[in-house]
Amino acid sequence: MNVLAISGSLRKKSYNTALLRAAQKLAPEMGIEILDYSAVPIFNQDVEESAYPEVVTDIRGKITVADAVLFAVPEFNRTPAGSLKNLIDWLSRPDYKLWNQKPVGIVGASSGPRGASFAQYDVRRIMSYFNARTMGQPEFYCGNDEDGEFDAEMNLVDPKTTDVFKKFLAALSEHIKK
Ligand SMILES: Cc1cc2nc3c(=O)[nH]c(=O)nc-3n(C[C@H](O)[C@H](O)[C@H](O)COP(=O)(O)O)c2cc1C
Repeated sequence: MNVLAISGSLRKKSYNTALLRAAQKLAPEMGIEILDYSAVPIFNQDVEESAYPEVVTDIRGKITVADAVLFAVPEFNRTPAGSLKNLIDWLSRPDYKLWNQKPVGIVGASSGPRGASFAQYDVRRIMSYFNARTMGQPEFYCGNDEDGEFDAEMNLVDPKTTDVFKKFLAALSEHIKK
């Protein structure tokens, strides 16, 4: 299996990227690769038409061959972080056919208790527009209200959250196989 994982956060100590690293450890059989899209420019239709970025072409290629895409979505002001929205906008141009029937999993981590629930739903909405095959259940919300989900090295250490996340990944694996 080959799963492309996209963290909506570019910062080093990102809870969302840490979740994806935990997924790599918890489900090695899923072949999870974490995408580096730090070189993707701000979307501008003039740039799209005059000098379509090679980095976006490469990412489109990775999504096309991936068995699934796993998003970890940070929530900024009750919506997905702009860095992720920017990437998704690029990945809808010149068309969003690459998403058609693509299996998708969505998780999210926030520093508050809600686990980026609003932002996760926004990404579900976009994926539905793209006709992707997003897993509906189970959902996974990682709230970090200073109760020790992660250690200082950003390893997922909370046993209950780890167990729930493992179950999410097992369900996603089945969703992809179907
Ligand atoms: C500009 C900004 C807006 C935020 N708005 C929200 C919000 O609406 N809801 C929420 O749960 N957390 C919000 N947060 C806190 C984020 O959940 C927190 O920074 C989180 O750790 C970001 O994800 P990351 O750790 O993967 O970078 C906000 C943070 C920033 C910087």
